[in-house]
Amino acid sequence: MLDENEMPLKPNELETIFPKELIKQEMSRQRWITIPEDVKEIYRIWRPTPLIRATRLEEFLKTPAKIYYKWEGVSPPGSHKPNTAVAQAYYNAKEGVERLTTETGVGQWGSALAFAARLFELALTVYMVKVSYEQKPYRRIMMETWGAKVIPSPSNATEAGRKILKERPDTSGSLGIAISEAVEDAATHEDTKYALGSVLNHVVLHQTIIGLEMKRQFQSIDERADIVIGCVGGGSNFSGGAFPFVYDKLHGEDIDIIAAEPMACPTLTKGMYRYDYGDTARLTPLLKMYTLGHTFIPPAIHAGGLRYHGDAPALCKLVEDGIIKARAFYQNEVFEAAKIFAQTEGFLVAPEAAHAVKAAIDEARKCKEEGEEKTIVFVNSGHGHFDLAAYDAFNHGMLQDYEYPEELIKEALKNLPEI
Ligand SMILES: Cc1ncc(COP(=O)(O)O)c(C=O)c1O
Repeated sequence: MLDENEMPLKPNELETIFPKELIKQEMSRQRWITIPEDVKEIYRIWRPTPLIRATRLEEFLKTPAKIYYKWEGVSPPGSHKPNTAVAQAYYNAKEGVERLTTETGVGQWGSALAFAARLFELALTVYMVKVSYEQKPYRRIMMETWGAKVIPSPSNATEAGRKILKERPDTSGSLGIAISEAVEDAATHEDTKYALGSVLNHVVLHQTIIGLEMKRQFQSIDERADIVIGCVGGGSNFSGGAFPFVYDKLHGEDIDIIAAEPMACPTLTKGMYRYDYGDTARLTPLLKMYTLGHTFIPPAIHAGGLRYHGDAPALCKLVEDGIIKARAFYQNEVFEAAKIFAQTEGFLVAPEAAHAVKAAIDEARKCKEEGEEKTIVFVNSGHGHFDLAAYDAFNHGMLQDYEYPEELIKEALKNLPEI
């Protein structure tokens, strides 16, 4: 991480927005960090999450491959996001913070943090990307029920929001803009800190509980994974599921690790590996990552949680080194996969998770063509019960595929800092 002068960031420079313990975790080189008992006690509401063999999907595809999925949709907010939300709320509460701010795309992260903040009696302000605020009122209601204040972003509540609204009054918003608002709110209030739902090392660290459980569950049934898959927005569920397997791969095991992303926001497959800001207003430190440019506003696809211009730096480094592969998919093929999954396995998955389903189905079909009995596992990051409008659009042939927005990306990449 670099500061605004392009010098390595010192831990204390993050203290206006993060509690000390999370900064320590962000910079830590330790392999293991113990989960506090108070956090484990809350995890027990829904963890360990089930590792399920998708036998009906295998039969439908007539594949010799075995397909497993790690089902994170069983948490109270319905996704993997509370794995880090609970940990972050715990460390903030422990250090005397009274209020948290955050951004949310579809509302998955916001609702996870609303749930966690309530359990640790913290107030919460959520800046919700405007397109999702308008398309998905049920997540807002969920957040408000847990006690959070939800503001559509860009808003007039912050300097960053006012500036964007003046320049682009009709903008549908983006995660980058919402992050700017949430960071500014935290940085300008003494009792308040900011919580990020993805990208940063400490978030990925908290999510590794997914992959660690997966490995234990595979061991208990005398099975091993040949292919590990997840969808990537900022990279937290994918990295959380995959990194424990990356360790094995780096130690000689033959494992394919595949990240699935949307064609409308193809960070890993079409981005540049450069230092860039995490937000539109350039308030965050500079992170080395695959980026489409901090000013890039992706088309308003239904997988709102995958509309982020960058990705977790650790994940990007592994893609750069060829340890992890990335694939990009269009909305319609993703929903086609989600529908097959719903009709075979029953669950209606979140549009984000459906990217992982699509990648898993592709791999299973490849196994069929090549007659290979591989074991495929994917992180199924959440349910889609609040995304039924997207399923409705797909079912009625109304879902639009966005072409890869090359010109927009080229334009945004011009705004990268020269480092
Ligand atoms: C269900 C679901 N899966 C995946 C993501 C993408 O986030 P990340 O890449 O951090 O896991 C989101 C983001 O909101 C989400 O809601």
